[in-house]
Amino acid sequence: MTGAPQADLVIVANRLPVDRVTQPDGSVAWRPSPGGLVTALEPVLRANDGAWIGWPGSADDDEFEPFVENGLSLIPVALSAQEVEEFYEGFSNGTLWPLYHDVIAKPEFHREWWDSYVAVNQRFADRAAQVAAEGATVWVQDYQLQLVPQMLRAQRPDLRIGFYLHIPFPPAELFSQLPWRRQILEGLLGADLIGFQLPGAAANFVRLVRSRVGHKTHRDTIYLPDGRPVKATAFPISIDTAGFEELARSDEVAKRAAEIREALGNPRRIFLGVDRLDYTKGIYSRLRAFGELVRDGHLDVEDAVFVQVATPSRERVEQYRILRDDIEMLVGRINGDYGKIGNPAIHYLHNSYPREEMAAFYRAADVMVVTPFRDGMNLVAKEYVACRFDDDGALVLSEFAGAAQELRQAWLVNPYDIDGMKSALLDAFAADRKETSRRMRAMRRTVVQNDVAKWAADFLRKLEELPEQHDKTVRQ
Ligand code: ADP
Ligand code: G6P
Repeated sequence: MTGAPQADLVIVANRLPVDRVTQPDGSVAWRPSPGGLVTALEPVLRANDGAWIGWPGSADDDEFEPFVENGLSLIPVALSAQEVEEFYEGFSNGTLWPLYHDVIAKPEFHREWWDSYVAVNQRFADRAAQVAAEGATVWVQDYQLQLVPQMLRAQRPDLRIGFYLHIPFPPAELFSQLPWRRQILEGLLGADLIGFQLPGAAANFVRLVRSRVGHKTHRDTIYLPDGRPVKATAFPISIDTAGFEELARSDEVAKRAAEIREALGNPRRIFLGVDRLDYTKGIYSRLRAFGELVRDGHLDVEDAVFVQVATPSRERVEQYRILRDDIEMLVGRINGDYGKIGNPAIHYLHNSYPREEMAAFYRAADVMVVTPFRDGMNLVAKEYVACRFDDDGALVLSEFAGAAQELRQAWLVNPYDIDGMKSALLDAFAADRKETSRRMRAMRRTVVQNDVAKWAADFLRKLEELPEQHDKTVRQ
């Protein structure tokens, strides 16, 4: 089944940029997939004319042929219901996701999940080996596919293989809990270039390879016994800044932002949270902080309202169900205790919205609240900045988001410190225009100069510059 044309650039990610949904009448429709990986990479594929291999988001589909959707060349990889449970919900999101995010939730280690992870990674590698043209560049994405680089190199030594980890890479003490730690490190070492969000993550990886696998290393380079060098380097990811700004400037979005303000009762200040409903995002703590400010009389519900937009995510994973219940109970309690007729303290939306609607939320919001306990980057923070072309608006940002390394002028907070968060929220609420403009101007410079096109160009250039492989064995 090689139905796809051969491509010179192949992106391999667990998810396709669109999800396949079967409508009530049985017809098939496509809608954008959730999450930052897709937001970042979609414009990259569009600009670089390649192919994207990924899962269409539903279980037990028959493998269907490559197709073109909205100008993108997409190659589906099917997962069975059991693989969705063991590979996706299990090893990817019940083991690796919590382990790589500071064990905020407890990772579970199950051997059947690992077996499924190996089998699915092999399927992605086989598909990439079929689709990549001779000497092509294959760019493998994220924690779900860490074995693919090695599996692909075994079949196609002629390829240039890059890998990018969108989430944090944990410190050695945590990573070492993983029963399959060595296999994961060796899987990644199949790549020529391994990209991380932050320099600290790249350094963690190099140190682990030295101590656990025993390879020689020098700075960001690892020397394999066969002489092949592997680079591990930080490339902080970004967004299509100009695209978001253009959207935010449009008349439709301006009109919609005004409607949103009006519908909220024209409060003096709108606080906004936008996240996948994930326990790493610190949604519960931020709402608690806001609730206490209302309780203590520092904020009045006629003056200030909190809008929390939460995208449904990984809904069959136990930890995500518990989180949803906890958050919905808290919202109900805060609104019940402090809301008034026509003025709830918190507006909670558990839904996904088109990009235009997101831009309207960003335009309408005076204080953007991004408080993850740990986040590889956090693109929401950058999207907010991109949409504030008037240099106004305040960003409250967790110091544990990768974005905090770049957006230094935000109101930086420790999400574990509720009192600290409360005072930052109040400061941002009360800040005058001069103060918010000074900070926003500086952040906008950073996000305009470092957009996702630059991120991709930097990564791909570095991958191209690496020396050609010695072993150019022709594939069978
Ligand atoms: P993560 O990748 O962990 O989900 P990011 O903040 O990096 O976190 O990226 C989230 C992406 O999902 C952003 O592009 C954001 O605009 C988008 N998003 C978040 N919530 C929604 C929603 N309710 N509807 C549509 N898009 C959303
Ligand atoms: C984060 C991860 C992505 C993932 C996305 C959405 O951005 O880094 O790899 O695709 O979340 O999560 P989901 O489980 O729905 O694919």
